Amino acid sequence: MGDQQILILGAPGAGKGTQSKRLAEEYDLEHVTTGDALRENRDMETEHGTPREYMEAGELVPDELVNEIVEEALSSADGYVLDGYPRNESQVEYLQRITDLDVVLHLEVSEETLVDRLAGRRVDPETGDNYHVEFDMPDDEEVRERLIQREDDQEETVRERLRVFEENTEPVIDHYEDHEGYVRIDGEQSPDEVWEEIKEAVDERTA
Ligand code: AP5
Repeated sequence: MGDQQILILGAPGAGKGTQSKRLAEEYDLEHVTTGDALRENRDMETEHGTPREYMEAGELVPDELVNEIVEEALSSADGYVLDGYPRNESQVEYLQRITDLDVVLHLEVSEETLVDRLAGRRVDPETGDNYHVEFDMPDDEEVRERLIQREDDQEETVRERLRVFEENTEPVIDHYEDHEGYVRIDGEQSPDEVWEEIKEAVDERTA
C-alpha cells in the first residue's frame, strides 16, 4: 500500500469522486469518502436523527458523527485519499489533530458546470462507478440499464448543496491555500486531462 496522504477538495460535482478513484488505484491508497460512508449508513439512528434526513435536504450531517467515521478510517490506513471532508472549520480543526497531509488538491469548476454534471450524473449501484448521461455512458447495455440517479442529485437539492458549500466549505479551501502541499487544478477539463495534472502534482510533491 502507498503512504501518500492526500486531501481532495472541491464543490459537489467538481469530480472528487471520479479522480479519487483513480488516485486510489494508481497509488494503492485507501479511498476515504464521507459521502459513501454516510450513504451506507443512511438509516442509522443517532441522537441527532438519521444521516438520510440531512443528506436528502442537502445539509451537512452533524460533525460528531462524521469526525468519528473519518478518524476510524484513517487510523487503519497508511496512505489515503480523503474525499468529502473537511467541510467546515470545526472539521478542519479535528483533522489537524489526527493526521498530516502531503498533498491538498483543489478542483475548481464553475457553478453552471456543477449543476449540469450533478443533474446528469448516474451511478452504478453494483460498483459505485459514476457516469454522466451526456459525457460518459457505459458501453455495456446491462450496466446502462441498471444505472440510478442519487436522491440528492435533483436540481433543487443540488442548488442547496452548492449554497451549503459556499457558506461552509469555501472558508475551508481558503484555509488550505497556505498549506505547502496545496495545488489548484482546473477541473473544467476532460477527466483524463484533470487526471494528468493531478498525477503530476502528486508525483512532484511526494517523490
Ligand atoms: P458527497 O457524497 O461527499 O457529495 P459531494 O461533495 O456533494 O460530491 P459529489 O459526490 O456530488 O461530487 P464529486 O465531486 O465527487 O463529483 P463526481 O466525481 O461524482 O456528500 C453527500 C452528502 O453527504 C452531503 O450533501 C452531506 O449531507 C453529507 N456529507 C458528506 N460529507 C460530509 C461531511 N464531511 N460533513 C457533513 N456532512 C457530510 O462527478 C460528478 C459528475 O460529473 C459525474 O457524473 C461524473 O461522471 C462527471 N464528471 C466528473 N469529472 C468530469 C469532467 N472532468 N468532465 C465532465 N464530466 C465530469
